[in-house]
Amino acid sequence: MDFKLKDRLLLGTASSAMQIEGGDCDSSWNDWYRKGKILDSSNPARANDHWHRWQEDADLMAELGIQSYRFGIEWARLIPEEGMIDQAAIERYRQEMIYLKEKGIGLLLTIQHFANPMWFEEKGGFARRENNQYFLQLVRLAVESFGDLVSEYITINEPNVYATHSYWYGIWPPGRKSFKEAAWVMSNLAECHILAYRLIHELRRDMGQSDTKVSIAIHLRVFEAARPFNLKDRFFRFLIEKSFQGSLLEACSHGRFSWPLKGKAERGDYCDFLAVNYYSRSFVKGKAEFSPPDLPKNDLGWEIHPQGIIPCLRKASGKVSKPIYITENGTCDNEDEYRSRFIYDHLKAICESELPVERYYHWCFCDNFELLEGESARFGLVHVDFESQRRRVKKSGRFYAGIIRSHGVTKELYEDYVKGEEYPV
Ligand code: BGC
Repeated sequence: MDFKLKDRLLLGTASSAMQIEGGDCDSSWNDWYRKGKILDSSNPARANDHWHRWQEDADLMAELGIQSYRFGIEWARLIPEEGMIDQAAIERYRQEMIYLKEKGIGLLLTIQHFANPMWFEEKGGFARRENNQYFLQLVRLAVESFGDLVSEYITINEPNVYATHSYWYGIWPPGRKSFKEAAWVMSNLAECHILAYRLIHELRRDMGQSDTKVSIAIHLRVFEAARPFNLKDRFFRFLIEKSFQGSLLEACSHGRFSWPLKGKAERGDYCDFLAVNYYSRSFVKGKAEFSPPDLPKNDLGWEIHPQGIIPCLRKASGKVSKPIYITENGTCDNEDEYRSRFIYDHLKAICESELPVERYYHWCFCDNFELLEGESARFGLVHVDFESQRRRVKKSGRFYAGIIRSHGVTKELYEDYVKGEEYPV
């Protein structure tokens, strides 16, 4: 054996509703497409057509032995207009959940993952605190509709990535460009999480359900001072890390708000597990973030830095000492040339550490609609021909299935899948 998985560790895959389902929902991302903002002009209405092909996808997942599935629900589909609930959509989601459970696949449900209905956006979305009630209506609907089937929840996906991309860099809907507003949105999302945390527990308790687990998936990066002894680099490294992830983690897990967040909540314990999405590292020089040219990079130019996951998790674990779920980790490797090594390096680092990691969700199962990049950035274990919607398990998908079967990486798996792979520089 090259390495064994940790005893309690389950392997899964992660997805988000808007990125796989397809369909012309009136959501912020469909609107972004209509505004011509998707780089390759592809339309989220196509994506993986998972809305209709869910059974085929569940079968394929079961075939690969996937143990747990992190998936999302589409707000604009469930509540297409303010106050209007689509019962047929609820039924369709229930069917899929029941089917997955019958196949022995555990469920982790994400309630909000980047996409909002346009009726909510038109009211000012998460930039207005008085709109939080609409998000809480969605949370209530999710638990009342699926609470008998699902015990594990992520309230919101990556508030830090959402707030920065949508409200500061202006490249995601609604395309705003203000640091102040981004910080405010992040604060508001942290408040939403805390309210949702309480509501989910309360509703499930009233339903007579136990073992409820709730958290929020935070994108954590490694931030490194480009010149380790330069005071300016160190100072900005500290500020950037704090404003992107440190303060958010504190606010969401304990209700403690500090710069740049401005919220209020009762102090408490609002994460039943630590949910981390880990992808990459940034170097900080002065105020600027960058990635030096001579390091391994994926097809989107993101540095591949598997070892970085460990200090990131250790630091976060110091704030939230709960079991760890890696709710996302993956890479854009369009030709599937180094994804197996990527999986190997991250899992090995995790399994050889002392950290209490209980889940690893690979992002993602099928190549999907990759937000701004549309269909042109492939992260999947399964190749999708978007025209024909044909699925084909990639080499990395077979490797992942092999790890699950062997509960680790055997010498043979290493030889067959990893040895010949190298990261591009
Ligand atoms: C997001 C996903 C996205 C992935 C790859 C994560 O930050 O949660 O929605 O597809 O990164 O870019």
